[in-house]
Amino acid sequence: MSEHRYAARVRAVEMSGIRKLFDAGGPDAINLGIGQPDFDTPDHIKEAAIAAIKAGKTGYTPNAGIPELREAICAKFERENDLCFRPEQILVTAGGSEALHLVMEALVDPGDRVLITDPGFVSYAALATFAGGRPEGVPLDETLHIDVEQAKEQMDGARLFVLNSPANPTGAVESEESIRALVEYGNDRGVTIVSDEVYEHFVYEKAHVSAAHFGDDVITVNAASKTYAMTGWRVGYIAAPEDYIPECLKVHQYAQACATSISQYAALAAYTGDQEPVKQMREEYRARRDLLYEGLSGLGFEFPRPEGAFYAFVPMGRNLIQKAIEDGVIIVPGEAFGSKAPDYARFSYATSRENLSRAIQRLAALVE
Ligand SMILES: Cc1ncc(COP(=O)(O)O)c(C=O)c1O
Repeated sequence: MSEHRYAARVRAVEMSGIRKLFDAGGPDAINLGIGQPDFDTPDHIKEAAIAAIKAGKTGYTPNAGIPELREAICAKFERENDLCFRPEQILVTAGGSEALHLVMEALVDPGDRVLITDPGFVSYAALATFAGGRPEGVPLDETLHIDVEQAKEQMDGARLFVLNSPANPTGAVESEESIRALVEYGNDRGVTIVSDEVYEHFVYEKAHVSAAHFGDDVITVNAASKTYAMTGWRVGYIAAPEDYIPECLKVHQYAQACATSISQYAALAAYTGDQEPVKQMREEYRARRDLLYEGLSGLGFEFPRPEGAFYAFVPMGRNLIQKAIEDGVIIVPGEAFGSKAPDYARFSYATSRENLSRAIQRLAALVE
């Protein structure tokens, strides 16, 4: 076969370490590696999608999203976050992933420094690199929270700071005080804050606080994906100061045209309909978080109790991580999320309590 050539921007980026793991383990493997809700999308949302198909709402939509959905997202901000946005400040995207991509493409120039926590969600560094930026890790403190003083030291001259609370992979929720300090300090120095709030509804003690409360140069990224168990529907959004929207829209309209029409009607039902399913999912995640935390602590693992999202980040040592995976407990080694945590593993508890108990039993046999 002839040798094909690829652009430097894709050569500079590796495939996600998480996807690679999906094939690991035998048929009896317990998958705690996957970062998506194991719940089904609530029925009223599915029905809205079916109704949209039957009503022939299957063509292109306005590039920025159907007006009703942009309005519903503004109403959601008012109801849940006490923030006031106008529809012109909302851009509907194909999931939070596309929203992050658009922000990087629209804001990052070659060589710009993009600050991301290390460890942090896998897409940030890759998307910053595609845009020609230089991703730079901000280390976490021993409680797995952002070290605000350290972050401030790195902020001078940076283009973006990506804040993710509740966080993947650590399950940490940042305090209002830290978020305020990061936003105010960053915005004062011309650093735009990108606040990825896709896990906002999965907080178990501390309240979620939106970064947009504390500065004028904050871009909020969010999605229906995790909140409503809609990962495959691909609906997310950017909420930003109005002048950013047309610039992000340029990238979106040429690369994507619009988010899927049917999914947008489904998301409209999600944001305007009954919120009880979200509450039920949160309570189930909380019970699983407790089960996993107590189970792993009982085996002698010492780690901060996860405060949000559906992940625990646990120091175990490379050998044990490897052995666990070979024994069919699929967890994600920390280096998939940056360079600083090779001895840690991410456990996702977006799986049944029964699976979590079985995984803890298997680990017990390994540590004995
Ligand atoms: C922190 C974080 N942001 C964004 C996303 C992307 O979500 P979406 O499925 O909406 O693209 C994920 C998905 O795992 C995530 O963990």
